Amino acid sequence: MGNTVIVGTQWGDEGKGKIVDLLSEHADYVVRFQGGNNAGHTMVVNGKEIISHLIPSGIIQQKKCFIGNGVVVDPFVLLDEIDYLISNNIDVSPEMLKISNRAHLIMPYHQEIDKAREEKKGKNKIGTTGRGIGPCYEDKATRRGIRFCDLQNMAIFKEKVTVILEEKNFYLKHYFKAETIDPDLVIDQFLKIRDRLIPYIADVSVTLFDGIKDGKTILFEGAQGTLLDIEHGTYPFVTSSSTVSGNAANGSGVGPGNLDEIIGIVKAYTTRVGAGPFPTELFDEIGIKIQKTGSEFGATTGRKRRCGWLDMVVLKNAVRLNSLTGLAITKLDVLDDLDEIKICTGYEYEGETIYNFPPEIKILEQCTPVYESHPGWKQKTSDIVKYENLPENAKKYLDRVSELANVSIKIVSVGPGREATIIKETIF
Ligand code: GDP
Ligand code: IMO
Ligand code: MG
Repeated sequence: MGNTVIVGTQWGDEGKGKIVDLLSEHADYVVRFQGGNNAGHTMVVNGKEIISHLIPSGIIQQKKCFIGNGVVVDPFVLLDEIDYLISNNIDVSPEMLKISNRAHLIMPYHQEIDKAREEKKGKNKIGTTGRGIGPCYEDKATRRGIRFCDLQNMAIFKEKVTVILEEKNFYLKHYFKAETIDPDLVIDQFLKIRDRLIPYIADVSVTLFDGIKDGKTILFEGAQGTLLDIEHGTYPFVTSSSTVSGNAANGSGVGPGNLDEIIGIVKAYTTRVGAGPFPTELFDEIGIKIQKTGSEFGATTGRKRRCGWLDMVVLKNAVRLNSLTGLAITKLDVLDDLDEIKICTGYEYEGETIYNFPPEIKILEQCTPVYESHPGWKQKTSDIVKYENLPENAKKYLDRVSELANVSIKIVSVGPGREATIIKETIF
């Protein structure tokens, strides 16, 4: 396998964790390059479910894992996740996991601001995960962020926390009428965990560069999905990082010439958590059926996911933005019982059919999907292991998706478990 990037092509939760876990077997290193613990990636191995939020899913296969400079890390969540994985007999020692010295820390005030902002917005809220992601990236962009390297010199760390809290407390108290945060308490909290964190800190870019020179293979694990990208998503209903494949290089400190294969993960239908436009959303009993059959609940916040038909405007957008070299279609089995399955091929807007995303969500909200209809296969697919054994109508549906996207399907997933996977075209 060449160096491979895994990205979500929709609004997240496409099943990236499952595919990363599967492909990790063929990689030496697994790297997260953006996002934070807003992500929730689920792996099911021998019937046991493991959910990770920060640590790359490759840890389950006990591959060396890296958290790149582009990730924002809540160190308290990280330590809890390390303990959770250890309690599942997974080695997460500093030998197995390195965090970039340039990765930014999510601080307690970032979460407070995230929550206070959402509350103040009321019905116009984004529906963030409340994990402090946006406020942390905001401080990174305005050059006031605190990074892992700052933990290596507590004098610098204390100074930075004290200075920034002056401003954050003013904002919390006077704008949000919220509680202020005592800098000494924050510094104390970090003093308690600092010794555990220090051995994990490394110059990840340098380690990956040396690894590539030694012939190591890297798997890059994207979080969220293309339509949640800060640049290209359904702005402002997006996350605060760049979720597309180009950022795999930037967010881990690896040059873009090292990316060989880019696999887009596509749920066989569409889901979205949180607010924002979703043209193919279903409000009828079919939507409810998909939600129930697919157990569509957020892996991070437990919120019910909104469900709808597969949208080719969404997928083609992801093909273009990510340079996809292959697709992995997940959750095909969830559609097993349906009589009819629809694919959205374009949007109708003011009497014309459009095929690309308008940048303005007010326009997107007025778009109506144009559908083509496909007969269901009405047959259980979850124990099928060979592509040719899939029902004819399932193959026709997949072929049509591949034809419209103009990208070949390499993997088809028919259940949450590692074993419920059909390799159509090998990439390793
Ligand atoms: P991620 O954020 O992209 O890693 O996806 P999540 O883990 O948040 O959500 C995907 C959900 O679908 C998880 O509960 C997975 O266990 C489950 N899943 C993944 N692939 C399949 C599949 O092919 N069929 C079914 N039924 N469930 C799947
Ligand atoms: P994975 O990696 C689905 C959504 C939130 C909200 C918006 C902004 O599991 O696919 P944020 O907390 O990032 O500021 O919230 O983005 N969101 C996700 N939706 N899957 C995710 O990650 C998500 N991460 C963030 O619901 O709408
Ligand atoms: Mg998820």
